[in-house]
Amino acid sequence: MDKKIIAVVGATGAQGGGLVRAIAADPNGPFQARAITRDVNSDKARELAALGVDVVAADIDDADSVRRAFEGAYGAFCVTFFWGHFSAEKEVEEARIMANAAREAGVQHVIWSTLEDTRELVPLSDDRMPTLHGKYKVPHFDGKGEADQVFRDAGVPVTYLLTSFYWDNFIYFGMGPARGQDGALAITLPMGDAKLPGIAAEDIGRCAYGIFQHPELIGHRVGISGEHLSGSEMAAAFSEIAGEEVRYNSVEPAVYRSFGFPGADDLGNMFQYKRDFEPSYRAARDVEGSRKLNPALQSFRDWLGRNKEKIAIPPK
Ligand SMILES: NC(=O)c1ccc[n+]([C@@H]2O[C@H](COP(=O)([O-])OP(=O)(O)OC[C@H]3O[C@@H](n4cnc5c(N)ncnc54)[C@H](OP(=O)(O)O)[C@@H]3O)[C@@H](O)[C@H]2O)c1
Repeated sequence: MDKKIIAVVGATGAQGGGLVRAIAADPNGPFQARAITRDVNSDKARELAALGVDVVAADIDDADSVRRAFEGAYGAFCVTFFWGHFSAEKEVEEARIMANAAREAGVQHVIWSTLEDTRELVPLSDDRMPTLHGKYKVPHFDGKGEADQVFRDAGVPVTYLLTSFYWDNFIYFGMGPARGQDGALAITLPMGDAKLPGIAAEDIGRCAYGIFQHPELIGHRVGISGEHLSGSEMAAAFSEIAGEEVRYNSVEPAVYRSFGFPGADDLGNMFQYKRDFEPSYRAARDVEGSRKLNPALQSFRDWLGRNKEKIAIPPK
């Protein structure tokens, strides 16, 4: 039987990589992955090729290359890379390139990895949080949310995938347990008592695989999460693997914004949005629905158990 090709943007990254591996792990399934990368010779690209995956070169800033990469594909997984350039405008442009390429290639099911346009609930005039880059509240959310319209305008059959906070940020984004001046371990988040929907990054691609198996989800928004947990609940789980107490250090969003690392202001606004609009933000990310799409969905403790060697607990 001829397999349907799914062209996967960001295939060497977290979201796209999870999808490519999910397709490759189901050799009797209906799909075959086409992994898109800027460098087919990188170690990560070669790892995918070693799984038997077709690996092709394209750059999402080069419309012709994306069109070629989508040609003949049944499905396309589209994601943008805010942290590579810190520009929401550029994300919208990149979404336009992918949406147009999908239309021209006649792709039958697009998944657009999006997030909320926070300005719908926090207009620029709302001074609870600063306006950033001139016209955004949470730039790495707002550009993606704005780009939903780009896919609608292109008239492509699209499912809007609302992702969640990657627990992997505790490993790769410097958010893991750190020692304070008192020597105690703590995780620091500006979330108060609100619960944060999180997910193992690898599960995003697995949920996307489930969505491709359900074409009736075209036109729908699908929010995914492995578990919704408060800072205290995550700290308690970290305590179990650290072998000592890990506290939850809840700070005000303004304090978080002042931390000074690149994007601290964007993330401070993001956490404040998730805290202040907790009911609607959580309601959009249903754990049981995510598990139906991806029966292997991990809870936070599942994920911690599998990744505890990678979580660097600072010595006393
Ligand atoms: N961290 C979180 O908690 C979180 C949560 C929700 C959503 N997000 C969003 O997730 C997005 C990033 O996705 P990710 O985490 O899967 O990315 P990632 O792991 O950082 O991987 C990025 C991949 O994108 C590819 N790439 C970068 N620029 C490209 C370009 N111009 N053309 C083609 N490919 C390009 C790179 O592949 P090559 O080098 O092989 O070309 C790279 O492997 C961000 O926009 C972020 O806002 C993050």
